[in-house]
Amino acid sequence: MTEKIIILSDGRSKPLTIPADLAPPTGEVRDRLARPLRDLRISITDRCNFRCVYCMPKEVFDKDYQYLPHSSLLTFEEIARVARQFVAHGVEKIRLTGGEPLLRKNIERLIEMLAQLTTVDGKPLDLTLTTNGSLLARKAKALKEAGLQRVTVSLDALDDATFRAMNDVDFAVADVLEGIEAAYDAGLGPIKVNMVVKAGMNEQEILPMARHFRNTPHILRFIEFMDVGASNGWNMKDVIPSAEIVRRIGAEMPLAAIDPNYTGETAARWRYTDGGGEIGVISSVTQAFCRDCTRARLSTEGKLYTCLFATQGHDLRALLREGHSDAELSAAIGELWRVRGDRYSELRTINTDGLARTAARKVEMSYIGG
Ligand code: GTP
Ligand code: 5AD
Ligand code: SF4
Ligand code: SF4
Repeated sequence: MTEKIIILSDGRSKPLTIPADLAPPTGEVRDRLARPLRDLRISITDRCNFRCVYCMPKEVFDKDYQYLPHSSLLTFEEIARVARQFVAHGVEKIRLTGGEPLLRKNIERLIEMLAQLTTVDGKPLDLTLTTNGSLLARKAKALKEAGLQRVTVSLDALDDATFRAMNDVDFAVADVLEGIEAAYDAGLGPIKVNMVVKAGMNEQEILPMARHFRNTPHILRFIEFMDVGASNGWNMKDVIPSAEIVRRIGAEMPLAAIDPNYTGETAARWRYTDGGGEIGVISSVTQAFCRDCTRARLSTEGKLYTCLFATQGHDLRALLREGHSDAELSAAIGELWRVRGDRYSELRTINTDGLARTAARKVEMSYIGG
């Protein structure tokens, strides 16, 4: 039984230090590797209605699994307040994640609050959300009306049996496809579809997925299976390198590389040479992109992480609930970013086995958000 407990959010967070000078935000803060802070990914629930084998395996996330109690969750007011501080430091994109973010009650109200924020240049934020698509058909319209700009939908296979084996809750492909279309019709495009590729599990779906989304307005992206968290039994043998994925697709439907949309984009972009649209590959394992990583993550209970692979977060909720001022919160966030030196994936590339195995207490993706 005890091995189940390692997954939980924990008491291991570090306090966030408030620097004495209370330096006000300047709209740009750089870390030790000169990387600016541009993205904030906010996990709004640690629950999910799927049990993807690479993320929330049933043996761990079973009926005895203890999710966060409601009182631990940041309230919408707390989230919006934190988001405002981040935007003042230069954040331009906010992504809501989970768990499954659409399971959080009244998410539309949070979106309405976040949609009011503007970047330091006075532009609207890129406000987006990562979802498994299961509730999208029902919610797409309301999300759009609340001010959400776009969505990214996870879908790991087109073949029902394979997809059901991966989500492990018998969810049908057709229902996710219906969600994607509803989101598109509601104006939540361009829609990105994320497929995590696990060797021996869904690699035979690479070509069917590519064929399906070719000549549609949706952008399919293939993600290398990562050693995130401590419960997915990751092994390098389960990774199909992106170069191989591009090779397999390109052999049937010729591809040409295209420039990134922005510095630090996770996906490398490829277009079909006959004009059939584009795909992306996210090579977190074989070609780490830490060099330009501008992402901070806020967990459901208000811990700040400066890397997806961190073992410890910084307790922002404590500052919020101890009644600190905006100036104090902002200074603490700025200082945390200034001392940041994370580059886990790059280090893992140098020493594949060692890091993945020794970092047995890394935080789970369902807790921190993808
Ligand atoms: P866009 O804003 O549409 O460009 O999205 P994005 O690629 O920034 O975000 P998305 O959530 O779609 O990321 C896709 C996948 O990339 C995630 O599910 C992760 O598997 C991986 N990923 C995202 N951010 C990071 C990161 O900071 N580090 C690593 N190692 N992987 C990441
Ligand atoms: N490796 C790569 N991607 C993962 N995701 C979850 N776990 C992993 C992993 N181990 C992705 C999901 C989804 C997003 C939330 O994170 O597929 O697209
Ligand atoms: Fe849920 Fe997404 Fe994790 Fe699957 S990958 S279990 S849908 S949070
Ligand atoms: Fe950023 Fe950490 Fe991912 Fe590297 S491993 S890209 S530093 S979140």
